[in-house]
Amino acid sequence: MGGFAVVGLQWGDEGKGKITDYFAEKADCVVRYQGGNNAGHTIVVGGRKYKFHLIPSGVLHRKKVVIGNGVVVDPSVLIDEMEMLRDAGIEPDLMVSERANVIMPYHRILDGAEESLLGNKKVGTTKRGIGPCYADKIARYGIRMGDIVDEKSLREKMERIMPIKEKIFQMYGLENPDIKKIVEEYLEYGRALKKYVDDTIYYLNSIIDEKTVLFEGAQGFLLDIDYGTYPYVTSSNPVAGGICTGAGISPKKLEKITGVAKAYTTRVGMGPMPTEDDGKAGNHMAERGHEFGTTTGRRRRCGWLDLVALKYACMVNGVDSIAITKLDVLDGLEEVKVCVAYGYEGRTLNKFPSSIRVLEKCKPIYETMDGWDSSAGIKSYEHLPSNAKKYIDYISENLGVRVEIISTGPSREQTIMLD
Ligand code: IMP
Repeated sequence: MGGFAVVGLQWGDEGKGKITDYFAEKADCVVRYQGGNNAGHTIVVGGRKYKFHLIPSGVLHRKKVVIGNGVVVDPSVLIDEMEMLRDAGIEPDLMVSERANVIMPYHRILDGAEESLLGNKKVGTTKRGIGPCYADKIARYGIRMGDIVDEKSLREKMERIMPIKEKIFQMYGLENPDIKKIVEEYLEYGRALKKYVDDTIYYLNSIIDEKTVLFEGAQGFLLDIDYGTYPYVTSSNPVAGGICTGAGISPKKLEKITGVAKAYTTRVGMGPMPTEDDGKAGNHMAERGHEFGTTTGRRRRCGWLDLVALKYACMVNGVDSIAITKLDVLDGLEEVKVCVAYGYEGRTLNKFPSSIRVLEKCKPIYETMDGWDSSAGIKSYEHLPSNAKKYIDYISENLGVRVEIISTGPSREQTIMLD
């Protein structure tokens, strides 16, 4: 009973969907607390692939799913996902926070316009309007889910903020947003979603002592707006602490935090990644790991495991255990490397630097280990090749964190659970 969390420890795409799905089986309720449809989870159940961007993946277990106040919601995406589920014979038991901010058409347009102005210094966003929507929330110009289900409120708020939006659009040389059209479109979404929009904060607090509530992180710690590789980050707080602000839950209610890390590293978009490998090993990871984004289809940048970054992530998230995913992707490599420190201007750094300019110049210092032939599909630790076991043990010892789960393939069955 209580709150359980699954959070990403790298730059997103760690395979949280599969791990969340695993824990969701035992949970009563699965909650998202940040991000929006920039996220993408692919879950394989019974040979069928499901792709979600917004709805918590626990929905496949027919659990109650909650979209918390810290999430930004594109209602058209939410409606599409609900339809996809209904087509698969699943009626989602969903509750969406009245306080969750709504992604509006002008957020998507501004996301694109800002990125073009940044040119080759762009963030490489998913162009889903995430940053501009969070910016409006903080600036107090946001539209919330509670507004789109309340015609008077939506009209009033839109009238209030439109002069500001129009000015910004003029500055960008863009055609003014059509306020009437937007209001009609969003009222229509509001009608479709009304029965799901509620006070999730009171709801979650009413069940958390009696039931098992699973909080599902989107993106990853190194994309966190405060802790990540700023400004090449997303606009929310994927860190475990974000659960409290993004779902209205006290830190005292979190029983266990599981961090998820790939057996190697990937990143989409721009920004430094010290262990990036443009050569044979990086290609091996991209090909074997099918490293193409669920949301944008972009090829992910690949490289070796970075223990400096991972240690930092374990510290700030306060993880109780870690899940290592995609171990099988490293199968067939003669040797595997792990980054244990950074070299920077003749010095050795053991801490993840806050300055992007420093991180860009950091050179990974590697520990090299022997590779292994095949771990794919193995379901028990004992049956792993001995070099794969050494690799896992090394990670656990270096981080000082227990490895609880090892994933050796995409389906639910290809999982090792450790005591
Ligand atoms: P935004 O979240 O669309 O604003 O994009 C900001 C940065 O976060 C970009 O580098 C994106 O590629 C990255 N990003 C956002 N969501 C995800 C995700 O779910 N996985 C991996 N990277 C992501």
